[in-house]
Amino acid sequence: MRSCDEDMVFPAGFAWGAATAAYQIEGGWDADGKGPSIWDTFCHAKGKVFQDHTGDVACDSYRLWDEDLKCIQQLGLTHYRLSLSWSRLLPDGTTRHVNQKGVDYYNRVIDDLLASNVCPMVTLYHFDLPQALQDRGGWQWPEITKVFDSYAQFCFQTFGDRVKLWLTINEPYVCAKLGHEDGLHAPGHGDLGVSVYLVGHNMLRAHARAWHSYDTLFRPTQGGQLSLALFTDWAEPWDPSNPLDVAASERYMTFSLDWFAWPIFVSGDYPPEMKARVEANSRTQGLPFSRLPQFSEDEPSIKGTADFFAVNYYTSRKVRPGPTPPKSLGFEGDQQAVGEMDPSWPVCGISWLAVYPEGLRKLLKYIKDTFGNPSIYITENGLSQVGAVELDDSQRCSFFHATWMEVSKAICEDGVDLKGYFVWSLMDNFEWSDGFGVRFGLFHVDFSHPERPRTLYRSGTDYAQLIAKFKGRS
Ligand code: NOJ
Repeated sequence: MRSCDEDMVFPAGFAWGAATAAYQIEGGWDADGKGPSIWDTFCHAKGKVFQDHTGDVACDSYRLWDEDLKCIQQLGLTHYRLSLSWSRLLPDGTTRHVNQKGVDYYNRVIDDLLASNVCPMVTLYHFDLPQALQDRGGWQWPEITKVFDSYAQFCFQTFGDRVKLWLTINEPYVCAKLGHEDGLHAPGHGDLGVSVYLVGHNMLRAHARAWHSYDTLFRPTQGGQLSLALFTDWAEPWDPSNPLDVAASERYMTFSLDWFAWPIFVSGDYPPEMKARVEANSRTQGLPFSRLPQFSEDEPSIKGTADFFAVNYYTSRKVRPGPTPPKSLGFEGDQQAVGEMDPSWPVCGISWLAVYPEGLRKLLKYIKDTFGNPSIYITENGLSQVGAVELDDSQRCSFFHATWMEVSKAICEDGVDLKGYFVWSLMDNFEWSDGFGVRFGLFHVDFSHPERPRTLYRSGTDYAQLIAKFKGRS
């Protein structure tokens, strides 16, 4: 029974998790037959990542999985979100050659989790495309959707007897924009306003294919659920009394969350505002077609291809209209609305992350109202440390407490059907272009030590206490 009288309220069976991703923790980049991924290539090319850090060793989880398991047990997690390294399982990305050592590794991880009463949530793709597939055009290659589907089916076949919660693709927005517009993530491309949409499009097509395969071929016997993890900041008008700022903040959501969620949860097609804007700009630029691709009726439908809504939330923006005409060609999401941090929000050391837990509650309500009251998992949420390590991380403790309070209110007062919450991340790890300079872990990892010792932060203790309080309540 849920009541609003207590401090915080979470439903029975709520998933208490922490998340990681293969490239960020595993290391073993060329161990036991693993093929290279685009992140191996990107990091090995100098000058791409903070101080040329790489994920070659990272937390060394490929070797030190037992240590990760101890961390998971110490927190009392009910769920653990991990990703599979596609090129560890299929070194050239295709099912022509399976790397049995990779299969053995993930079998062990999954079996150990289940033996510890921890439910695995498995992401198939978290930014690390096999390099061999990048060489054929990567996410811009139309056939990638079929290759992804084969990989997904291989994973369902191999692990689906035990894995019941699947995510196909993590943050297609980030892959498309940071990897193919800004060039900040692998593969480091950018042809302003073109490949960003193509990559997003192919990711949606790939996701939908995998969902249909799961639905028809595997769900009848395996009975699991599948979605994709979407990223967005929460956008608010800079001045709520200014209709132009209100419209700009709505556009901001359109070009981030709705870009992917609208086709899946609402119409099978992109949001009308997005289609109209990109088409109009494309015409102005003298193009005979819109840079936003169209879905084909000959392909599996996009609409309805998610069994729950998975969202990664970190921060919020105050938004006002961008300059007219835009200063440069490119992704309309950057041009039609400009998002800034509110100066009153505390910051944590990285420029894109201001502390605003209220934004998460508002975002959950937005998802409920816009996408038909779906079941929701918060598949990532966290705050980083930058600079000197503080094991007594009081800022992060306050952030988490405020966040959990907001999440509880979303459930209890707004009626959001929230199924679970995953902290990013279980432990400090390779934070993409920020390397090891930014730490999101519940456990500290000493990257200067060959055994990568893991030590609990105070925020980790707080999370363990919260879990202990609510776990198993009915
Ligand atoms: C979301 C990404 O999924 C994850 O890989 C990353 O480390 C966190 N954001 C923090 O930036």
